[in-house]
Amino acid sequence: MTNFEPSADVSMTEQMPRYYAQRALEYEQVFARPHRQPNIATLKQWLGEQFSGRHVLEVATGTGFWLPAASADALSWQCTDINAEVLEVAKSKSLDFSKLSFRLADAYALDLVPVGAKSPFDAAFAGLWFSHIPLHRQAAWLAQLHAQLAPGATVILMDNRFVAGDSTPISRVDAQGNGYQMRSLNDGSQHEVLKNFPRFGQMHTLLDADAQDIEWQELDYFWTLKYRLR
Ligand SMILES: C[S@@+](CC[C@H](N)C(=O)[O-])C[C@H]1O[C@@H](n2cnc3c(N)ncnc32)[C@H](O)[C@@H]1O
Repeated sequence: MTNFEPSADVSMTEQMPRYYAQRALEYEQVFARPHRQPNIATLKQWLGEQFSGRHVLEVATGTGFWLPAASADALSWQCTDINAEVLEVAKSKSLDFSKLSFRLADAYALDLVPVGAKSPFDAAFAGLWFSHIPLHRQAAWLAQLHAQLAPGATVILMDNRFVAGDSTPISRVDAQGNGYQMRSLNDGSQHEVLKNFPRFGQMHTLLDADAQDIEWQELDYFWTLKYRLR
């Protein structure tokens, strides 16, 4: 039986995390698509280079698909996610656990570093997360991420580009301009998921006051954004 949950009944802030908890064991199937392998290999190598020698805070780690490559040469790596189900998958991977720690944390209420305390994090990473932030929360989310980091920290965001004919279509756009996709899980359930596809101009506007050395990269299926906090 199809189990479709209209977003009007359950707030998007509850529905999206629940969808990813249910998807935990099948999540990484999305990375198996053959035509995306060259991009994925490029990103894995690039991420490893970015975090070499860094103390990293990762937001919405999920199943840790990027973790082995991205954390390979990092000094320490704090994984966070709102769902225990996905972090359990990450913990089952072959990783150097001496430098990794895992914590349940809401990306909108990060409190790993108490306000005013010196941050141990000189880098941050969020993969395939920014696209799920409603437009009206983007600026506040960036501000509270930055508040968890040391001055001058490097931030890397990475996400999907919309590729017509390949990406899941946008099924509706709400009054605020957020896009939504209908997604199916292996059990046949369907879920409406907020998914935005920001352009560099929008990101630049959002970051202008806080960031320097902003670098935007577009691959066929992904974008990356790298900057340093002022
Ligand atoms: C698209 S997945 C990205 C996972 C991983 N970063 C990657 O690149 O494969 C989105 C992740 O966000 C997590 N998530 C959803 N809402 C969250 C929230 N409010 N705070 C923290 N994590 C959240 C989900 O559990 C899921 O693991």
